[in-house]
Parts: sequence; C-alpha cells; structure tokens
Amino acid sequence: MPASVPSLATGLPPPLAQGQPLTALAPMQDVTDLAFMRVIAHYGAPDYFFTEFFRVHAQSQPERHILRSIDENTTGRPVFAQLIGEDIGHLARTATALLTHNVAGIDLNLGCPAPKVYKKNVGGGLLRDPKRVGEILATLRAAIPGRFTVKMRIGFDDTAPFERILDLVNEHRVDLLSVHGRTVKEMYRSEVHYDFIARAVTRAHCPVLANGNIISPGRAATVLAETRAAGVMIGRHAIRNPWIFRQCRETFSGVSVFCPTLSDVREYIERLYYATQTSGLPERAHVNKMKKYLNFVGQSVDAAGEFLHDMRRDETETELFAICDRHLLIHGAAERNFSLDPYPGVIARPNCETPAGAANGCSLETVTA
Ligand SMILES: Cc1cc2nc3c(=O)[nH]c(=O)nc-3n(C[C@H](O)[C@H](O)[C@H](O)COP(=O)(O)O)c2cc1C
Repeated sequence: MPASVPSLATGLPPPLAQGQPLTALAPMQDVTDLAFMRVIAHYGAPDYFFTEFFRVHAQSQPERHILRSIDENTTGRPVFAQLIGEDIGHLARTATALLTHNVAGIDLNLGCPAPKVYKKNVGGGLLRDPKRVGEILATLRAAIPGRFTVKMRIGFDDTAPFERILDLVNEHRVDLLSVHGRTVKEMYRSEVHYDFIARAVTRAHCPVLANGNIISPGRAATVLAETRAAGVMIGRHAIRNPWIFRQCRETFSGVSVFCPTLSDVREYIERLYYATQTSGLPERAHVNKMKKYLNFVGQSVDAAGEFLHDMRRDETETELFAICDRHLLIHGAAERNFSLDPYPGVIARPNCETPAGAANGCSLETVTA
C-alpha cells in the first residue's frame, strides 16, 4: 500500500494510533533506505519515516537511490525528504523537485556533526550562523506550500544561539521540529540534554520530536514525561530493535510489551540480509554492510559482547549465518529473550560512542549526524 499522504497537505499526517505520542524513525545515512524502511515496517512501522539526506549543491540532483525510498514506499507510512546544504537557491530548487514526489514534507538537516560536512557550513555547521539559518528557513518556507520540518542539534559547540534558532523556527512557521539533545561537538559521546528538548517544547509553536538515546519504550515514556514532547524520534535503537515502535505504542496504551526472543532476532537478521541484497554487490561487501546493522543488534544479544566479537570477524554469508545460529538459536534450553535495553558496556561503534573515543575516529563514514 503506497503512503496515502498527498505532497501538499498541511497539518501533520495522522498517527497510527490516534491520540498517542508520535513516533518517527530517525534519518540515518546509508541505513534508512527503502529496504530498511520496509523491514522496519514489517516489525511495526513508526508514524513517520525520514529519508537519508539529499545533498544539495550547485550540481546536485536528488540521488536516485534515496528517491526510491519515496517512490517505492510500500510501508503505508508517510516519508519526509531530508535536505542538507547551504546554498539557498539550490535548496529551494531541490525542495521544489522533491515536491513532485509523494513526500509528506521537506526536512532540513541542521545537525550533522561529521567534520567533512560541518566544515562546509552545512548540517550542524549552520548552527554557528543563525542569520544564515534564518535566510534558509525563509526561502524554504516560501518554496514549500506543504509541510516544512527541521531537525536540529542544540548548538554547535555551545548552546547560546539555541533560543534564537527556535525563534527563527517559529518566525518561518516550521511544521515539526526534531531536536537531538546534544551539540555538534558532543557528537554521540555525551549524555543527551533532555532539558534543552523541554525548552524547545516550551518555546516552539510546532510539535517537537525528542531525539537521542531513546533506547527502549520505557525510556520513550520517561523522556516524553520529562520533556512534554509530542513524540519521539528513534535512530540507532531501531536498528538494534526493530520492534521498538510497536513496543512504544504498546507502552503508551498500557498493554503488555512484546518481547522478542533470540530466534526472532535471527529471523530479523535474515530478513534484513535478503532485503539489502542488491545485484552486483559482492558477498564480502554485503556481509560488511550487514555489520553496520549488527553492531547495534549485538548490544542486546549477550552481556559479554561475544556475538559482536564473532560477527565482526565473519567474511562470508555462510560464516555470518553460522555465527547467528551459534548465538541466537539456543537448542535444547529455554529460549532467551533479546534484551530491551542494550547491555551496559557493549558498544556498537567504539570509535564514536565512548566518552574517550579515538580522537579521529568519527569520520563521515562512521558518524554522519
Ligand atoms: C549511521 C547514522 C547516520 C545518520 N544519518 C543522519 C542523516 O542522514 N540525517 C540526520 O538528520 N541525522 C542522521 N543521523 C542522526 C540520527 O538521525 C539521530 O539524530 C542520532 O542518531 C541520535 O538519535 P539515536 O540516539 O536515536 O540514534 C545519523 C545517525 C547515524 C547513527
């Protein structure tokens, strides 16, 4: 069933469960493509999807592989198209082009922390220049007759311009604001400053999605209570646990929460493997691509990180599934549940997510926004 939300609609698309907080899958470069969105929808779709960012510059055309996640969307849920760039004319041109596709709205990235990106003054780099942010918001608002949304961090290296940016969001009538509660310089290493998300909720005229370290449905409920946000946006923990949106809805409505077993996880990995297989992609490259997802999945398989240790060394499909069988199919013993929370100390991306990670560890390849 294609998403039924027309491009020029205003107001937010209706959520799956009327009256509940919103849920959204966070945009993630090289992750949230068509295949991944379909797999997530199989286990329980979020209310909204966001594409990976379309890069905008003088020569850019919307990337075809990202367009597929809009044009071939069979999830039944609306997709917002995200842009990253700073050239006002080309941002407007790209937004207009994307509006000819079945998008729920256009989202502007004001958060990407990859040095390669922010050095060009785009993504999180723009937070250093509120005047420029105002010009971009004004131009995009004028170019977008339907929904215009923004995803931001709380500052570049300090949070001084935070309120000013929120006022610009109000001035230019942004329809939905997602706030990742860290500065650009904090990357993924710090705690998430939910108090800033609460400040955004108070100041912004539009609904706010709380983003950052929503690790479980329980945490989603706590963050919503703490921030009064309209909903949650979840990224890495949806890769780890694709049932998380369904579990959030169960939590919000007070019914018992589905707890997947490790064999359910084995099934998820297999589904993801075949969904992400593309013709021409060599087996070794595909197995390496799987490691990007499995780094997160492994955080909930065992407390000692043994699955992660073995998985990071596999090279072939046969080895990958043999490791899955060894760690996830427990023969003759009671089936073990997949942990709702990641096990403490089991880190998906040690170069990026540890407080004292390697100084140069976070390149565009390893950290994108
Ligand atoms: C691999 C990866 C790719 C990302 N790509 C994007 C992106 O294209 N656009 C964006 O706004 N944020 C991007 N992000 C940031 C996420 O949308 C989100 O803000 C961040 O991961 C914090 O949320 P989480 O703790 O739920 O993962 C990316 C994050 C990761 C881990």
